[in-house]
Amino acid sequence: MKTANSVAVITGAASGIGEAVAVALAAMGAKVVLADRDEAKLQTVKEKILAAGQQADFMTCDVTDETSVRALMQFAVTSFGSINIVLACAGIIRDAFLITPDKETGKVKKFMTTQQWQQVMDVNLTGVFLTLREAAIQMTDHHWPGVLIPISSINKSGELGQLNYASAKAAIALWPKILAGEFHARGITNIRVAAIAPGYVETPMLLSIQPDILNRIIADIPLGRLVKTEEIVNTVRFIIENEAVHGTTLEVSGGIIGKGLAK
Ligand SMILES: NC(=O)c1ccc[n+]([C@@H]2O[C@H](COP(=O)([O-])OP(=O)(O)OC[C@H]3O[C@@H](n4cnc5c(N)ncnc54)[C@H](O)[C@@H]3O)[C@@H](O)[C@H]2O)c1
Repeated sequence: MKTANSVAVITGAASGIGEAVAVALAAMGAKVVLADRDEAKLQTVKEKILAAGQQADFMTCDVTDETSVRALMQFAVTSFGSINIVLACAGIIRDAFLITPDKETGKVKKFMTTQQWQQVMDVNLTGVFLTLREAAIQMTDHHWPGVLIPISSINKSGELGQLNYASAKAAIALWPKILAGEFHARGITNIRVAAIAPGYVETPMLLSIQPDILNRIIADIPLGRLVKTEEIVNTVRFIIENEAVHGTTLEVSGGIIGKGLAK
């Protein structure tokens, strides 16, 4: 599949990985539909792409809302005539340990709140489900060739303090296999599915982590540095252009492997 002239719908496109992929795909000749909750930043990304003489439009969208995601896919079709590449990148972190006892009393003083749990499930799991489903309906109904690319994370292997996030990302890593099988079982041959599980990528999400924790993270990466957004862009391009990549999750992590016991 060629990137040029394809229509790409990217959630989380106002920042970080989503923004980097949007700008890069536009530069490769794709028509890019930018979606995010942050309208001001979407406008900035759109202007950057248009200023380079490339094609993009945006729609403010909350991926947790079914109506909003359905409207996004309709917007892509109305704006550019099809949907071919779907990058489900919108994501959040709300880190906390399940329980944290007080050092002196031994009694629980903090815990992961239901809101911290639910917000991550809503955006990182339900949001991706809605994005893939609504895109796949349009792509199947119109026989448009394409690929769904949800974003998992290397933290699917069990990062401490991320019971919510790691659970959602572990689920996402499984979906390409399930969906490739379901599409095959239903005779749908025009849609591939491949997820990316990045390691620690240099984006605003990551740079919001406390500096001492970030330094410890970098010390654990065999590559010796954070993954660059260009390296995720290259992986997206590889998935788009290599039609044998289907039903799988590609790790792009700089060599970091699963977490073990608490430090
Ligand atoms: N940065 C990393 O190290 C890293 C590593 C592994 C996986 N990831 C995943 O990659 C994806 C992108 O991460 P990033 O680092 O670029 O983050 P980021 O914070 O820079 O960007 C995430 C974007 O998602 C948007 N968003 C959040 N909730 C939304 C909602 N309900 N509806 C629409 N948009 C919403 C935010 O407004 C933001 O623009 C996420 O799914 C993240 O979990 C990131």
